[in-house]
Amino acid sequence: MPKLTIDGREISVPEGATVIQAAEKLGIFIPRYCYHPALSIAGNCRICLVDIEKTPKLQIACNTPVTEGMVVHTKNPKAEEGRRAVLEFLLANHPLDCPVCDQSGECDLQNFYLNFGLYNPRFKEQKVKKHKAVPLGPHVMLDQERCILCSRCVRFTDEITKTGELGIFNRGDHGEVGVFPGTTLENPYSANVVDICPVGALTERADRVQWLQSRVQYGPALRARQASPERRRSCGARQAPLQRGCEPMVVVR
Ligand code: SF4
Ligand code: FES
Repeated sequence: MPKLTIDGREISVPEGATVIQAAEKLGIFIPRYCYHPALSIAGNCRICLVDIEKTPKLQIACNTPVTEGMVVHTKNPKAEEGRRAVLEFLLANHPLDCPVCDQSGECDLQNFYLNFGLYNPRFKEQKVKKHKAVPLGPHVMLDQERCILCSRCVRFTDEITKTGELGIFNRGDHGEVGVFPGTTLENPYSANVVDICPVGALTERADRVQWLQSRVQYGPALRARQASPERRRSCGARQAPLQRGCEPMVVVR
C-alpha cells in the first residue's frame, strides 16, 4: 500500500493504483477525456496533467502508477498552465458550435474550459473542415469537427462489445473516427457510444437536434410583443404565429 501526498493530503492506495485513482479517493477531481474506468488506458488526450515533485515534466495522472512517497500537485501554476495549453490545442480546430450542439450544457469541453481553461485564444488560422453529419450506423451520427479523438468509442467497440467496428483514420489534425470499410455500427449496444463520448461528437440519430429545439424558447418580452408585418416579412417569419415576431431567445439549461 504505497503512501502518497496529493495537494497536501496523504493517502495510501493499493499497489498498482494510478494517480487519478488515488486523487478520486481523496475527492480531488482531475479532468479527463480519454480515461474511463471501464476501458483500457489510452493516455492520449493529456488533459489530466499533474506536477509530480522530482519529475521534471508534467505527467498524465491516468497512466502514472503511484509510488511510495510521491508528492503530487494538481492545482499549482505549472499543472494549471499545462492543462490550459492542452485545452488550447484541443480547441484549436474545434468548431465552437455550442449553441447548436446537443451536448451543450453537459459537455466536458465546455466544463473544463470554464474550470481549467479560460485562456485567450491565439489561434487565428483557418480551422480544418470535416464532415458534420456522418452516419456510423442506424442509431449513431458523428460530427467529425467536434471529435477530440479521445478514442473512448473505439475502445468501447474493441473491449466491451468486442465488435471492433470503429477506428481512427488519418494522422494529425486530419485524424477522424470512422467505421472500417464494409462495416456499420449496429451492434446491440452501439448507442452507448453516445453516452461514453465526452463531447458532442456522437449523437443519437433518433433525437439529435430535436432535443435541442425543445430548449429553444421565445423570451417573455418577445412573446408579449407583436412584431410589425414589415419586421416579420424581413426575416421570413410569415408562417410564425403573429404574436411571436421573429427573434427567438436561446435559453440554455
Ligand atoms: S467520437 Fe467522441 S468518444 Fe469517439 S473519439 Fe471522438 S470524442 Fe472520443
Ligand atoms: S485522461 Fe489522462 S491522458 Fe487522457
